[in-house]
Amino acid sequence: MNQIIEALLDHRSIRKFKDKKLTEEQIHTIVKAAQQASTSSNVMAYTIIGVKDEHLKEELYNVSGHQHVKDNAHMFIFCGDLHRINHLDNPEHNQHIQENLESTEQLIVATVDAALAAQNASIAAESMGLGICYIGSLRNDINRVNELLELPEYVIPLFGLVVGYPDHMPDIKPRLPLETIYHEDKYKPFAKQQKFIEAYDNEMSNYYKTRSSNTKADTWSDQMVRKFSNPTRMDVTPFIKSKNLNKR
Ligand SMILES: Cc1cc2nc3c(=O)[nH]c(=O)nc-3n(C[C@H](O)[C@H](O)[C@H](O)COP(=O)(O)O)c2cc1C
Repeated sequence: MNQIIEALLDHRSIRKFKDKKLTEEQIHTIVKAAQQASTSSNVMAYTIIGVKDEHLKEELYNVSGHQHVKDNAHMFIFCGDLHRINHLDNPEHNQHIQENLESTEQLIVATVDAALAAQNASIAAESMGLGICYIGSLRNDINRVNELLELPEYVIPLFGLVVGYPDHMPDIKPRLPLETIYHEDKYKPFAKQQKFIEAYDNEMSNYYKTRSSNTKADTWSDQMVRKFSNPTRMDVTPFIKSKNLNKR
């Protein structure tokens, strides 16, 4: 196994960091690695916002409720961004561009581009001995984040990425068996996935019972059913449309 694969298989989210900031050089290295990710048709439909202002961090902490949003070496916010594209042509005759930007397809392009860049950033940071945690809970109040970051039309905040020097080393979280996630030639019906999911539930139950902190009695299936039984962040749909995305 090569070093890159070893590092990928060693990933775990870090939620407690030492009190030390990233240097500008480290920030730029991470962003450059993010930028080199593949991007649909070279559109580069994303913007990364680094959070330095302590008051802004406090506000984002209030939205997300996570201590690691406040106490880290640096925080990046990944936004889907089609604003630049809209400005490339004269607004008076770019009606076709705008119609295109409003499609579900372009929302997918922007979201996928941002996610690929973020994962490159994460791997770059981890390769530098740093720990990372994604912060989807910024979408707990997407309108507030939009306001705080002064995002224009066609730009949406997708998630944060906090980076820092690990101050704990949680156990690696097991993943679903490969047989569940990887299918060949055609979709494997749920009935054929079920026994692997049951095995995973047993593995996760054991993981939660025996991990080094925050032990609990739970399984993956129970967690998922609870999670998806509650409508969450229903304001995201109208928000996206208010940014003139996903309208057609
Ligand atoms: C898009 C995205 C959003 C996430 N949001 C949060 C979050 O708001 N808070 C948090 O503590 N972890 C968050 N996570 C981390 C996941 O909970 C974590 O990756 C998952 O449980 C697997 O654990 P591991 O990363 O330690 O292997 C997020 C992960 C992703 C990919």
